Amino acid sequence: MTIRSIAGALAPRHAKTAAMAAIAILLALNSARAAGDAARGATLYQGCGDCHSIEKNDVGPMHKGVVGRLAGSVAGYNYSPALKNSKIVWTEANLDKWLTGPDAMVPGTKMFYEVQDPRDRADIIAFLKEKAK
Ligand code: HEC
Repeated sequence: MTIRSIAGALAPRHAKTAAMAAIAILLALNSARAAGDAARGATLYQGCGDCHSIEKNDVGPMHKGVVGRLAGSVAGYNYSPALKNSKIVWTEANLDKWLTGPDAMVPGTKMFYEVQDPRDRADIIAFLKEKAK
């Protein structure tokens, strides 16, 4: 048996193993990507953290349960009249609009912080959905 024939016998098997490994890696990356948005959102949420937290009112109202919540409804937080009376429900679509430009959506709001990138907004909302239940 020559080296060449050994390589010839091994190579196809290795090629198959390599292909299967590649597929496994791709599948793993794919599912990490789906769950990864909220993880990326967690990092982006640090920007919100200057004023907000999930569990406590601060400069801004706490975010616990924010997805699906009526705007201006956290007890003990002093909202602007504009937001308090807005009757907005924080659906994902409304959160996206809010984060695009709070003052454009609710003129007179006290929140001045915008997130320009649509992907950043989606990831932050995914984070809120998952972590601020
Ligand atoms: C510089 C401070 C500041 C930053 C940074 C900030 N916010 Fe706010 N946020 C506020 C204030 C103040 C309010 C209350 C607005 C009002 O009463 O008009 C508010 C209100 C909100 C509300 C409405 C909640 C409710 O109970 O109706 C949401 C949702 C919100 N912020 C999300 C975010 C997210 C997400 C981020 C980060 C991407 C963020 N905010 C960053 C100050 C901030």
